Amino acid sequence: MLIAGNWKLNCNIREAIEISSSISNTLADKNLISDVVLFPPVIYIDLIKNKINNSKICLGAQDCSIHISGAHTGDISASMLYEIGCKYTIVGHSERRINKHESNNDIYLKAKNVINNKMIPIICVGENAKDRESGNALNVIEKQLSESIPKNEKNFEFIIAYEPIWAIGSGKVPTLESINEMFNMIRLWLLNNGIDKSIKILYGGSVNKGNANEFFSCKNLGGLLIGGVSLKASEFSEICIMAG
Ligand code: PGA
Repeated sequence: MLIAGNWKLNCNIREAIEISSSISNTLADKNLISDVVLFPPVIYIDLIKNKINNSKICLGAQDCSIHISGAHTGDISASMLYEIGCKYTIVGHSERRINKHESNNDIYLKAKNVINNKMIPIICVGENAKDRESGNALNVIEKQLSESIPKNEKNFEFIIAYEPIWAIGSGKVPTLESINEMFNMIRLWLLNNGIDKSIKILYGGSVNKGNANEFFSCKNLGGLLIGGVSLKASEFSEICIMAG
């Protein structure tokens, strides 16, 4: 299991140190089997890396450039993220797909860069409320998978995060039945594309300590991608402990 905390655009330096140190200290003697990854704003990664002394906790970035280097003001490349100590990079979060107009092809290029720089991309997919209501969710996700996942890379490791857009930050969550239906479709897609069975599928969207156990009962669940609650050190740590 992998429990990931996406801090988004939150925290000042003091809060970043407090949250990461508190999670690290709480989990230090818990012998977790699960991996825990924090995704702070990229500017804090180096600082946090030097503050946490818990080998169970890894760090990752919330995004990376589609470019490798060159005249791309403001961008940060996958190789820079690797050098600074990231093990994972999220690509294709719906907030970037929507607010920054990122296409499936952009996500594909980013995921490729992440894989080629010895990190693991967490490739996000998710349908909006309209697609869910019209019964189109499975088709939408299948298209996102087909167009965003690199299929022929060396060192081919990645993670898929299923995050229905309408569940993110809303307090609404899908039924277990619809999560299982989606996960089964994703597994089948992976199988049909000859991709390793061990690929993890995460769920994300309004996860908290009250509903986490229900998600853990999904048989295909590889972990959770947690937004808002990952800023609450004690609740996030509790969920990590529940994951075991
Ligand atoms: P949330 O965000 O847990 O606040 O709903 C999840 C995400 O955006 O990854």
